[in-house]
Amino acid sequence: MTPDRWIALGWLRDVPARGARRIVTADGPMAIFRTSDDRVFAVEDRCPHKGGPLSQGIVHDSAVTCPLHGWVIDLEKAAARDPDNGCIKSFAVRISAGVVEILLPRIKAAAE
Ligand code: FES
Repeated sequence: MTPDRWIALGWLRDVPARGARRIVTADGPMAIFRTSDDRVFAVEDRCPHKGGPLSQGIVHDSAVTCPLHGWVIDLEKAAARDPDNGCIKSFAVRISAGVVEILLPRIKAAAE
């Protein structure tokens, strides 16, 4: 297995408060959210309802409201709030010297 590693995504100052930035990865789009109290969350940019782009939603407290049909996704739980159901993939995130970093999980080496 490879070790976990932190990957720099960019400056925190480039993510607006109560806003998001979208990053395209090999595994699909990711959304980086910044709350009004400067907490940062990294999740897949895909609503669990019908795949709406969460990065274009409205950020409030620690949640985002999907722009398509209004589901509210709790960013701490990476899941829809009641009465809706569904989860999204989330990533560990940290701020290091003003840079947003995500933790890439360990991956198994390909069969030899
Ligand atoms: S796609 Fe997000 S609420 Fe429907």
